Amino acid sequence: MPKKAKKAIEIDENTEFKPSKEFSKNARVKSMAQYKRMHAESIDKPNVFWAREAKELKWQKKWDKVLDWKAPNAKWFSGAKLNVCENCVDRHVEEGRGNKAAIIWEGEPGDKRVITYRQLLRDVSRFANALIAEGIKPKDNVIIYMPMTPEATIAMLACARIGAVHSVVFGGFSAESIKDRLDDSEAVAVITCDGGWRRGGTVALKANVDEALKGNKTVKTVIVQKRVGNDVTMKKGRDKWWDDAIADMPGTHKPKGFNAEHPLFILYTSGSTGKPKGILHTAGGYMVGTYTTCKYIFDMKEDDVFWCTADVGWITGHSYITYGPLLNGVTQIMYEGAPNYPEWNRFWSIIEEYGVSIFYTAPTAIRAFIKAGDEHVDKHDLSSLRLLGTVGEPINPAAWLWYYEKIGGGRCPIVDTWWQTETGAVMISPLPGCTPIKPGTATLPFFGVDAAILDEEGNECKPDVPGKLVIRKPWPSMLRNIYKDKKRYKDTYWSDYPGVYTAGDGARKDKKGNIYIVGRLDDVLNVSGHRLGTAEVESSLVSHKTVAEAAVVGKPHEIKGESIVCFVTLKTGVKDTDALKKELRNHVGKVIGAIAKPDAIHFTPALPKTRSGKIMRRLLKELVKTGKVTGNVTTLEDSKVIDVLQKSMQAT
Ligand code: PRX
Repeated sequence: MPKKAKKAIEIDENTEFKPSKEFSKNARVKSMAQYKRMHAESIDKPNVFWAREAKELKWQKKWDKVLDWKAPNAKWFSGAKLNVCENCVDRHVEEGRGNKAAIIWEGEPGDKRVITYRQLLRDVSRFANALIAEGIKPKDNVIIYMPMTPEATIAMLACARIGAVHSVVFGGFSAESIKDRLDDSEAVAVITCDGGWRRGGTVALKANVDEALKGNKTVKTVIVQKRVGNDVTMKKGRDKWWDDAIADMPGTHKPKGFNAEHPLFILYTSGSTGKPKGILHTAGGYMVGTYTTCKYIFDMKEDDVFWCTADVGWITGHSYITYGPLLNGVTQIMYEGAPNYPEWNRFWSIIEEYGVSIFYTAPTAIRAFIKAGDEHVDKHDLSSLRLLGTVGEPINPAAWLWYYEKIGGGRCPIVDTWWQTETGAVMISPLPGCTPIKPGTATLPFFGVDAAILDEEGNECKPDVPGKLVIRKPWPSMLRNIYKDKKRYKDTYWSDYPGVYTAGDGARKDKKGNIYIVGRLDDVLNVSGHRLGTAEVESSLVSHKTVAEAAVVGKPHEIKGESIVCFVTLKTGVKDTDALKKELRNHVGKVIGAIAKPDAIHFTPALPKTRSGKIMRRLLKELVKTGKVTGNVTTLEDSKVIDVLQKSMQAT
């Protein structure tokens, strides 16, 4: 029978979507009254609130104090001892989930693996024993540069289990990016793979590691998973195959309790300088934060099949693949490859095949799926879904509506989750069983989150007036430091207003308190949900022998959210050819990674600067957005530069 055409939903600023009675009835938070009560308690009596949540997890020794706060330094669950890995794995075997699937994995070529909690315990224990056998000790830093294989998660959990500190480097980053992170972290080991599958081809991960390790003095061990069968060079005495490393290792390992403030991981992220910041998270608070957000925001229950499509190289993959879902003992999907390989229906076929009930992805992916066409969705039964989520950037209402109707069949609430590498876990989001949802807003603060929008003087902005998004109270999964750089930590996050965390995002609240994220206030780009510093791209450009100066700005992009536009001044005598543009693009790709390759490069005889020599990015941003500059240019050192730039933009 032909399907009856459904009437399209029309929305405006005031349209609200409420969960069905059925959804609310079964949800962990069922009404706004319950949310308000719990939120008030979490703010007024954080010790009571967080102690109750934390008690659901396993502590080898209980804390003396829930929170010890001397801005900007927080200690959560002081005096406690715990093992995060034990909570993610052993606890579930002890509680009878041993034969439950922990990870259902699909490789890009179509190979499949199911790993139960019992098998995960054995695999993690063997690998933990292998790390110990390599001499890796608590607080040693270990770089993980892996594709999306279960071994990536196993490696992270094994580090956590023995108290080593993992630092995952996204597989799309270049050898030079790995080198920067190796130098900063002084890592003693690297865990990698012979390669990963991407759109039918392979990515040479081990070769990048070899390049990055040239001249390195701290790394003693490299463990290599065999995945794609690439030829790789193995350095004697340093490099070992994963299978050989675990071959003689016992499948049991007793998890030692570490202090709640023991470092768990460092994750490098972009800021407003050319040097990525090593964001440091610690064990106890991060565990409680990721556990609790999964429980309430993703409403995780015993029978859920959760799928977060992020890569473990980003914070989303840390909190909502490796830690949060496993802490909650659910079954999760992990997929290795590209969303459009071999066809644009890959995600929907995975949802259908495994009966995914909660699906978490990025707006940029949703926009790409819309462009690819509905026919890829229509051939799949997505009725197992009950909840959808988004992360990484604001979602435009048109994409929201498509996701709601086409993927969620009009029955699944969508949680638009705002958070950051620094916050460790979701901070602003609807709770799916109660919050009235408006497309485009991440809505209300999560438990324990005291979010506000402030003006320059530190006063709260009136409804609908944009300002700086801040968090006024500490929360369990907050960053504790920028690795080895307390001053930068303090200056970057805690200096705009004393004792208050500045997120770096602009935002506004509507009259009902819904928070709309406007975008970054600093020189950080958000390209396809990936965070990149304009300064990083600029410094990679000027490292090319032909470049004298560069300025990089973001331009709104239909699918990626933002695209990278570069203005480049060449050294005297260098010819501005298209071939050089191509070379510079590839150069940035080589220095940072393919995700940072500029979308457009404009050669210019000079950059617009103030008389004191500061590049006026504001003008460049306006220029790329509108094609012209309308504002006041009298403070420019040479206002003719603008005419030249405008002409060059019009010509391209
Ligand atoms: O600008 C905000 C944007 O992503 C930034 C954080 O990037 P990163 O540390 O890489 O973490 C991304 C995944 C958590 C934020 O400062 N952002 C993240 N989520 C949202 C968002 N912008 C709007 N809406 C969101 N839901």
